[in-house]
Amino acid sequence: MNPAHSNDLHTDPAQFPGVDVYAVAGNPISHSKSPTIHARFAEQSKQKIHYGLLQPALDEFKAVATSFFANGGKGMNVTVPFKLDAQSFADELTARAQLAGAVNTLHIENGKIFGDNTDGAGLVRDLLAQGIQLQGSRILLLGAGGASRGVLGPLLAQSPKALLIVNRSHSKADELVRLFSPLAQSHQVSLQAANLDALEDPNRMPTAFDLIINATAAGLSNESALSDLAASHIFTPQSFAYDMVYGKVTPLMQQALHRGARVSDGLGMLVEQAADAFLIWRGAHLTEAINPRAVLAELRA
Ligand code: ATR
Repeated sequence: MNPAHSNDLHTDPAQFPGVDVYAVAGNPISHSKSPTIHARFAEQSKQKIHYGLLQPALDEFKAVATSFFANGGKGMNVTVPFKLDAQSFADELTARAQLAGAVNTLHIENGKIFGDNTDGAGLVRDLLAQGIQLQGSRILLLGAGGASRGVLGPLLAQSPKALLIVNRSHSKADELVRLFSPLAQSHQVSLQAANLDALEDPNRMPTAFDLIINATAAGLSNESALSDLAASHIFTPQSFAYDMVYGKVTPLMQQALHRGARVSDGLGMLVEQAADAFLIWRGAHLTEAINPRAVLAELRA
């Protein structure tokens, strides 16, 4: 079976009469935890839904999403590599989805497709739930790709004192600073960009950060974006290192642990972004009825 083919894991809403059908679309998608997470939210809040998987071929997102909604699908989560396709697919975008440059949550209302992005809100809620103080903090954000852009708005809205975006290629970090500087100014955040190399020299760049967030793809290939020299300056027992990847202790988390820092993977962000999507679909009145931290604890167990 070709895992890139769209028919492998098709969730057809027509097969679930009388039930509101949702799905997550990605490629690959078979290992997604989203169906489990949403099934738990539905149980907690006594909602009757079906949440399935969709695996469009790489050039078939639009066709698959069109047929899903035409057949009665109510909402869709979207993950790698389709978040940009989902953005173009939506008829209307929320302000935070526009700023994020990507869409991870779609829903249909009166025949119109709405696109939102709950990733950044999910990250912020997970950090706050872990007792991390964001207001007035100094944040180092590693990476300047889609994952970084997706979380920058909600992070800046927490009014940290300073946020430094560091990337291998400086121009992408500069671009993000340009894009987000009006928001940073409105929250009085000092927003700057630098090259990864600069972190190796404390004389070139201040290296005291309360929170280090890894939004690079380095961990996926079992590398750390930080050299050991940079890590030795950055991580202290007072720092908190957050890797958006989940399911393993990444090399960056290992560097942080080695220096006595606290670490977290991104599983809580996954659960919290799902909670936000669930409430968009089923209604904000269910906020108190769902318990994302209990679902996270179950997943960890
Ligand atoms: P995503 O949407 O997941 O952010 P992306 O847009 O391809 O994916 O961006 C990946 C990010 O990881 C980029 O910031 C990339 O750095 P460059 O812009 O310099 O390419 C970063 N990245 C990937 N592998 C890396 C590695 N081994 N070391 C450091 N940074 C890495």
